[in-house]
Amino acid sequence: DYTPTPEDKFSFGLWTVGWQGTDVFGPSSRDLLDPVDATYKLAELGAAAVTFHDDDLVPDDDKRDAVLERFEKALADTGLAVEMVTTNLFGHPVFKEGALTANNREVRRYALSKALRNVDLAASLGAKTFVLWGGREGAEHGAAKDVQAALDRYSESLNLLCAYVKEQGYDMRFALEPKPNEPRGDILLPTIGHALALIAELDEPDMVGLNPEVGHEEMAGLNFAHGISQALWHDKLFHVDLNGQHGPRFDQDLRFGAGNVRGAFWTVDALLGAGTGKAYDGYVHFDFKPPRAEAMDGVWESARGCMRNYLILRDKVRAFRADPDVVAALEAAEVGTLRTPTLGEGESLADLRAASYDVEGLATRSVGLEALDQLAMEHLLGVR
Ligand code: GCO
Ligand code: MN
Ligand code: MN
Ligand code: MN
Repeated sequence: DYTPTPEDKFSFGLWTVGWQGTDVFGPSSRDLLDPVDATYKLAELGAAAVTFHDDDLVPDDDKRDAVLERFEKALADTGLAVEMVTTNLFGHPVFKEGALTANNREVRRYALSKALRNVDLAASLGAKTFVLWGGREGAEHGAAKDVQAALDRYSESLNLLCAYVKEQGYDMRFALEPKPNEPRGDILLPTIGHALALIAELDEPDMVGLNPEVGHEEMAGLNFAHGISQALWHDKLFHVDLNGQHGPRFDQDLRFGAGNVRGAFWTVDALLGAGTGKAYDGYVHFDFKPPRAEAMDGVWESARGCMRNYLILRDKVRAFRADPDVVAALEAAEVGTLRTPTLGEGESLADLRAASYDVEGLATRSVGLEALDQLAMEHLLGVR
């Protein structure tokens, strides 16, 4: 009946249900939600874990210890884990021109110190993943950002953070979250591919992976299932932000399954390993914003919907993969054959070049792609 259990490993950012609806055109539409109350409520709805930015939970003043004490009691009462922690390096105007890649060196030093403080907090709460979303790392103007220097500084910070985690002996990895734009006109590391390429240049590439978000790749017109499949192929899918998006426009942060529902189906399929590939085994984390129009009842409905849609789609994906007609259609489309190396065992390139090919026959062969996709469509539409 699609009721979530802790085994489903659902996780929510406290900032998601806590979003008060403030946008570019108007002030907040909802009251402040106490993050500790939100923790209890998410547990009641069936979540297994919560995540947060420092600023979502802990004030930077003498109330810090008291808040943490209440929060840790909520974790103990509910059995919820803190699986991931992240630092807000975008909200405060001090970060208006960037944080780890700001032109101003004092800002960069402050940003790094804020991240380090939060790495300690993350470790003390048992979080094994530390996300870095560089929303303000970017520019609106050409000459205003030396992109190559900014990438030097990004790498420098990541190298320092990794060295710190190693030195402290923390069991923690970093996950970069790409986004093409918003709030900056152009953000550095705009896509999964850009972030993967930077990671390969770091001192400790094994300690840094990705936290891709559905809507962010789709804002760039990219296929999210393909993106996370490539991340899995590189063993870099450390974490994930599931939500929904309607094509390339502003970041909608819809609940998971809303917007591009076919994309959501293939996203779940990709997370499960797409039949024969590597599967994602981390927390199923939702990063969405309950629409500004909703009151508190709608906020919880939105959270519930994320989990239900995931469970429904998981069922549909499994039924699709198990359907004998699908197995036959995959075979007809030669999908499994792609796992066979192009050059045979013991063969040389000379053999490959000397072989004769029925080019005309191959050009006119049937590939069965529409038939296969129609089966997926019918599973999704609930008629199979
Ligand atoms: C967005 C981003 C953010 C980050 C989060 C973690 O929607 O633009 O997803 O929500 O994920 O702030 O730092
Ligand atoms: Mn987003
Ligand atoms: Mn996100
Ligand atoms: Mn978000």
